[in-house]
Amino acid sequence: MPETASGAIVATSLVTAKGTAPSRGADLSAPAVIQEAGVAWADGVITFVGPADELPGRDPQVLRGCTVAPGFVDCHTHLPFVGWRADEFELRLAGRSYRELHGEGGIYRSAQLLARASDDEVMAFCRPLMAEMADHGTTALELKTGYGLSVEGELRHARLARRLAQEAPQAATVTLLACHAVPQMMEREDWVRMACTELIPAAAAEGLCDAVDLYVEDIAFTLQDLRAVADAAAAVGLPVRCHADQLGPSGAAEEAVKLGARSADHLNNVSNEGVRALGEGGTVGVLLPSSTAFMRAVPPPVRTLVETGAAIALATDFNPGTSPVLSMPEAIATGCTLYGLTPHEALTASTLNPAWVLGMAGRAGTLEVGKRADLLVLEGEAFRQVPYRPGHDPVLHAYAGGARIGGR
Ligand code: NIG
Ligand code: FE
Repeated sequence: MPETASGAIVATSLVTAKGTAPSRGADLSAPAVIQEAGVAWADGVITFVGPADELPGRDPQVLRGCTVAPGFVDCHTHLPFVGWRADEFELRLAGRSYRELHGEGGIYRSAQLLARASDDEVMAFCRPLMAEMADHGTTALELKTGYGLSVEGELRHARLARRLAQEAPQAATVTLLACHAVPQMMEREDWVRMACTELIPAAAAEGLCDAVDLYVEDIAFTLQDLRAVADAAAAVGLPVRCHADQLGPSGAAEEAVKLGARSADHLNNVSNEGVRALGEGGTVGVLLPSSTAFMRAVPPPVRTLVETGAAIALATDFNPGTSPVLSMPEAIATGCTLYGLTPHEALTASTLNPAWVLGMAGRAGTLEVGKRADLLVLEGEAFRQVPYRPGHDPVLHAYAGGARIGGR
């Protein structure tokens, strides 16, 4: 652990999510706020959170006009990938749809780019992106496969993700997106069978992933496939997540809850039944507002979800197709302006709840004694300054495990 893994800060305010993870209802919108606050850490672990005048010993860094918050946890990204698809973005602006482009490019294009790149090229493309995420306050994140599109391709993708996770200063988990697009020249049913009987067991045996994901959509996989993948994941002790109701309604959200999935992500076209299920069940609804804005898609019924009692998380969905956005402050700003979240709801949805989705709530997601010192010093005297200035990076300092990993 570097020497910098100990420190103390006094700031104008400190804000942190509270309550049991995943947070919902009243806790979601009412994090703990301390004015004139102090935080201290030693050996990378938080040792004090409270009023500045009670901060024990040492010489704190005093930061006026600033807010201390937990590091952002981006629980839905598609890193590692290689190459951009800006031409598809331009074609969509000219009237083509994501569905149309899926056949001739889209996920298949990223799969081809990945297959053609060497491991070192992929790593060289991803490293600066991870650093840019740290500068924007992401101290923990999900990495995902899904551009491998064959058993060997997916295993390679997962190994690259693990390598990136090991190198990065952020805490990173790996999700095996076993069913993202039906591999070309293959029947859907055959790929699902192969994913369940070969890919998932092999990835688990090699310790390559922490969760399994599937894309339920008319251009991708079905509810029946979701059940099969959930069974295969459960058989090797891994939680399941799913891309649910993104382009159209499929019943994926309610099925995800029924299966005890860790999360149902996107939810643009979630049904009333899906909303009710998320309100009552243990599955977190992961909201991806940057993807919605970028795709000019219909937003999910976010206020109804929150009022029904659903636990929600906010993430970037960072990928070259539907969301080339890696900034959590930007996702938070869009989540507030487009989805109508309050700044404090957005804070809980960007820290504690995504930490729970990634299985990290015991060590990340809040500022609490004993947790990893993943914390941000933000510009402004309150957290609302973050969504108030879209496009501006409010992160002055980002610490992970007590060491400074980014900022301005
Ligand atoms: O979360 N829709 C499925 N997967 C991604 C997009 C992947 C891509 O277009 O490369 C998403 O939006
Ligand atoms: Fe996604």
